[in-house]
Amino acid sequence: MIYLIASVAAIAGFLFGFDEGVIAGILGVLKAHFHLSKTDIGILASALPLGALFASLILGSYISTKLTYYVGRRTAILAAAVLFVFSALAAALAPNYWLLVTARVVTGLAIGLAGVMTPLYIAEMMPARVRGRLVSAYQLAITIGIVFGYIVNYLFVYGVNWRWMFASGAIPGLVLFVGMWFLPESHRWLLLNNKHDKAAEVLDKIHTSKDVEHDIHEIEETIHHEENLVRWREILAPMVRPALLVAMMLFVLQQMSGINVVIYYAPSIFKDVGFSSNATQILASVGVGAVNMLSTVLAMWLIEKLGRRKLLYIGFAGTTITLAIIALGTYTQAQYLDWIAFIATMAYIFFFAVSLGPIPHIMMSEVFPIHLRNTGMGIASICNWGFNFLVVLTFPDLVRSIGLSTTFIIYAVACVIGLVFTYFYVPETKGVSLEAITEHLLHRKPLRTLGKG
Ligand code: BGC
Repeated sequence: MIYLIASVAAIAGFLFGFDEGVIAGILGVLKAHFHLSKTDIGILASALPLGALFASLILGSYISTKLTYYVGRRTAILAAAVLFVFSALAAALAPNYWLLVTARVVTGLAIGLAGVMTPLYIAEMMPARVRGRLVSAYQLAITIGIVFGYIVNYLFVYGVNWRWMFASGAIPGLVLFVGMWFLPESHRWLLLNNKHDKAAEVLDKIHTSKDVEHDIHEIEETIHHEENLVRWREILAPMVRPALLVAMMLFVLQQMSGINVVIYYAPSIFKDVGFSSNATQILASVGVGAVNMLSTVLAMWLIEKLGRRKLLYIGFAGTTITLAIIALGTYTQAQYLDWIAFIATMAYIFFFAVSLGPIPHIMMSEVFPIHLRNTGMGIASICNWGFNFLVVLTFPDLVRSIGLSTTFIIYAVACVIGLVFTYFYVPETKGVSLEAITEHLLHRKPLRTLGKG
């Protein structure tokens, strides 16, 4: 049962990555098909993060209200799955550009919905000891989804069949629906709604609990003091502010590093630097996706070995240098620019994926006091999607007006700011228990002084 629950998280992450990746190979084709301008391309690419931003804004505010009582997690994830299938098919059949944009916004809504409700479901269902690992598994699933998105691009590139590329997104949506159908509603939510007997049944099934009644009693004790009653004032209290700053800024910097410009526009960047055939551009993108995925596996090990701060230094330094190399290469129109840019992009992705990719996700689940965690994570996700949207929307117009090299320099500057921010603000949470982090904040000690390193 626990594995089935974990795989639901994985599928939700996979869908997130798939829908980010699949658009990359489609943009070029659609440009010709619908005669799109640079601005149109930006709008189409950023429709997905815009939808997800909407969903996270709505859910972010609803998590801290009583509404959480009424909507079951399972019901919400099933609804997200239906939206995934429906919007993938709608995109595939779209007769014109604006309907396509609308379908992508709906896919974004599904991603945002699943992105908030799945971690909530998992956090409620899983024992604490495996929760941390699931956060990393979620990030890994995103990167696997991206590679699959690129592979689907490659498979259909010769027939230039963008409709099939979109349609294939319905399959993982269907798998999510079927998987979730067989899973029970969260027992904590059932207790929240006074469905005692059903909750006992679920707990019996999943936790191999020795004393179900005792566990239920314990949950009932805590449940009414928890995040559902959090007020906005509490999350902005001076004591929590340092945690909020770290969680938000790490996502702002993650997105400002330009990662999704590479993920969403990889084939067109490879075209700009001299890869002429459509298939080679997409094949090079599959390489980007593969490095992203493999480096994430490495990150899962390195994060506990080196710690968050050291790894962030390595990540931000590496992305700064590689972005500068690409910028310099394009500015000077260097000889062998295609290969220089290809290798630098691979290195950039490596530095991102071992550090800036997973660390914000992990730290947002660590730094908040326990009763404010869901609200805090909701706000951090809003930053993630908001800046994802901004960066992806503005890229084509920025390249047109100030050129690829200057645009990349902007992202490189963000990475330098990342280095400075890490030095002054980011705490080392490696090996520190969540209780100790809360305690540290409660005593109003600067978050930065936590841990070693
Ligand atoms: C980011 C996504 C990004 C992905 C790339 C994630 O950590 O939040 O926006 O597309 O990494 O692997």
